[in-house]
Amino acid sequence: MTIIAPSILSANFAALGEDVKDVDQAGADWIHIDVMDGHYVPNLTFGPLVVGAIRPYTKLTFDVHLMIERPENLIPAFVEAGADRITVHAETCPHLHRVVGMIKEAGLPAGVALNPSTPLSALDCIVDELDMVLLMTVNPGFGGQKFITQSLAKLKALRAMLDTRGLNGMNIQVDGGINAVTAPLVREAGANVLVAGSAVFTEQDRRAAIASLR
Ligand code: DX5
Ligand code: ZN
Repeated sequence: MTIIAPSILSANFAALGEDVKDVDQAGADWIHIDVMDGHYVPNLTFGPLVVGAIRPYTKLTFDVHLMIERPENLIPAFVEAGADRITVHAETCPHLHRVVGMIKEAGLPAGVALNPSTPLSALDCIVDELDMVLLMTVNPGFGGQKFITQSLAKLKALRAMLDTRGLNGMNIQVDGGINAVTAPLVREAGANVLVAGSAVFTEQDRRAAIASLR
């Protein structure tokens, strides 16, 4: 079953709780929370205080995507704020095994994200510890960007790598440029968790928008 995770990066920041409740009622499975620090990526969004503020608006899984330098410094605060799963970028973690361990010791499933140009080999010594791999299908930082088509080959290679290692139950998440056109392509290539920001939040009919991705 495909998991649809609307990204609140494209939501109405002046009424974030209401928008989260709206997509919950429109059939979203997870809420994807894009945390950006203006250093690792050229955009600045929100931190644990905002996550805590929207927590009461939905019981859906808070899927926190940390696009920040030194994510280990904020993992406890995001756990406290109500994160249900946390994904960190391999590119921001020289001590990735230790950071993944921090997330798991906090009792949360851990994900590792790779930017479009980061090879799958970055996962070789950590993938067995993970619940999810996130393949960025745009360069991180902004919503509404164009899907990078080379991602499809990388996605197929990842699915094959996981199957070879007996990890076919692992979640593969894609993030960036996912819409009614690219959704069937990424599902076919092996993704089972689809993040969509602009494809959902710019639509009046969120229920139809979410359904169009399944
Ligand atoms: C980009 C974020 C994505 C983004 C997706 O850095 O990680 O989650 O919000 O936005 P769309 O779906 O509009 O490409
Ligand atoms: Zn994201």
